[in-house]
Amino acid sequence: MVTSQKFGGNWTEEKLNIFTSYLDSYLIALQRQKFKKIYIDAFAGTGEIETRDGEQCLVGSAKRALSSDKKFDHYYFIEADLQKAEELQNMINTEFSQMRRIVTIYCGDANEKLADIIRNVDWRYNRGLLFLDPYATQVNWTTLENVAQTKSIDVWYLFPFSALERMLPKNGKYDKSEECIDRLLGDTGWREEFYKKDPQLTLFDLSPDLEQSNEDRMVKVANPEHIKNYILSRLGTIFPCVSKDARIFRNSRRSPMFLFCFAISNESEAAQKLALRIANSILKSK
Ligand SMILES: C[S@@+](CC[C@H](N)C(=O)[O-])C[C@H]1O[C@@H](n2cnc3c(N)ncnc32)[C@H](O)[C@@H]1O
Repeated sequence: MVTSQKFGGNWTEEKLNIFTSYLDSYLIALQRQKFKKIYIDAFAGTGEIETRDGEQCLVGSAKRALSSDKKFDHYYFIEADLQKAEELQNMINTEFSQMRRIVTIYCGDANEKLADIIRNVDWRYNRGLLFLDPYATQVNWTTLENVAQTKSIDVWYLFPFSALERMLPKNGKYDKSEECIDRLLGDTGWREEFYKKDPQLTLFDLSPDLEQSNEDRMVKVANPEHIKNYILSRLGTIFPCVSKDARIFRNSRRSPMFLFCFAISNESEAAQKLALRIANSILKSK
């Protein structure tokens, strides 16, 4: 099959395996519950992922979700790119025609369409599994708040770690990216968390006529572990339960690319315990 979607890296399959293992266990765990089960793939793609050299094809999240043995009551797919949304629709028409009735595809921005879906579902009678798999910084913090408020959705979020790190220069000159980081992390506290005043004296301090003094010169003090913990603690401010075993995916030079996070919005302790046990055991093993 020809697909417009290209392969992200070696960790792409690892990510999809973790996610679909959880999905399978989720459907088994909820099979005797009275709730309706809803799947939401907010960065759905086409259902197929082609390697950059065009030689290998991976099955993407949408197709994996539709192929699971046990089924959701409804599947929502969101994809911003019209061509990809059409490819996804064609794939469903040909390979899952018997499921078309329970599938809705939206072409548009994930933040907007997800807000519409959340608004139109009665979360007292439904439980949701959400996959947030963006290329970069597309997910707004307000979207995560919205998800958490349903108290009914479990979410796997591929947090764009390297995109965030790129916006945090060592010399503290983050002014061009401030708004984007605030939107991504949902607060302004990262400035104090990741930066400290530069303790080193430079030419500026010895020459009072020069404009920048030691007072306002900042230096980055956060390392990747620190940034990871900060992201998880931010998620913990809106979700009652967040896995500490979030997985860092690295590139071939071992630099962190993405942080794969799992959060539960359900307030029931029993539900949290079960979901967390499943997610953590997958994160530790796969
Ligand atoms: C990493 S890919 C998703 C791969 C997919 N989960 C899979 O396994 O096949 C990200 C997808 O999000 C789409 N996208 C980018 N920005 C978007 C946005 N703001 N809203 C919805 N989709 C978006 C891209 O076109 C791309 O298909």
